[in-house]
Amino acid sequence: MRIRHLDASHASAWHALRKRAVAEHPEAFLTSPAEEERTPLETVSRRLGSPASEAFVLGAFLEGAMVGTLGVLREAHEKARHKALVWGVYVAPEARRRGVGRALFEAAIGRARDVGIERLNLAVKVDNAAARALYQSMGFVSWGIERDSFRVDGRPIDEEYMVLVTSR
Ligand SMILES: CC(C)(COP(=O)(O)OP(=O)(O)OC[C@H]1O[C@@H](n2cnc3c(N)ncnc32)[C@H](O)[C@@H]1OP(=O)(O)O)[C@@H](O)C(=O)NCCC(=O)NCCS
Repeated sequence: MRIRHLDASHASAWHALRKRAVAEHPEAFLTSPAEEERTPLETVSRRLGSPASEAFVLGAFLEGAMVGTLGVLREAHEKARHKALVWGVYVAPEARRRGVGRALFEAAIGRARDVGIERLNLAVKVDNAAARALYQSMGFVSWGIERDSFRVDGRPIDEEYMVLVTSR
């Protein structure tokens, strides 16, 4: 398995994986399949082309195919530059339970440290046992719950907020 920092050349493959993620797991991701369909490839390319100190997206590759992804987005405001949001964590079903999620996080935490990000925040649906177990195993701790964070077909989704302090 290889973890790569994605760039604009991966836009099409990454967007295909992202569309799969939001279609398979509507309750795990904020964007809908229709929103992903409407997103132009240029927007995706721009996102993947950001400087690593501001934002980066990692891809996990098995036998040349992208099977997992994770994004990190740093806070833009000067006073909050020590923080970043982890978003879009997904491993394709055929590649799960083989350490791909863990490898994505190990790479993301290392890169975050390298660019001076000291706190990684994320949100996870309260009953997403697999993701919560992965995050806890990486050292994330829970600090709160937001009720009715977003809605899927009118159903309220409760999300748990977790944080990891990256400094050693
Ligand atoms: C959550 C997800 C990213 C995990 O990816 P993965 O590559 O299967 O995870 P790993 O193989 O690296 O697992 C690392 C650890 O996480 C925990 N874990 C992962 N999947 C688990 C599961 N189904 N049940 C319980 N624990 C699990 C275990 O502690 C595991 O360590 P172990 O295999 O030594 O027991 C994957 O299941 C996924 O993409 N789910 C759907 C999308 C999603 O929910 N994304 C998160 C949105 S917040």
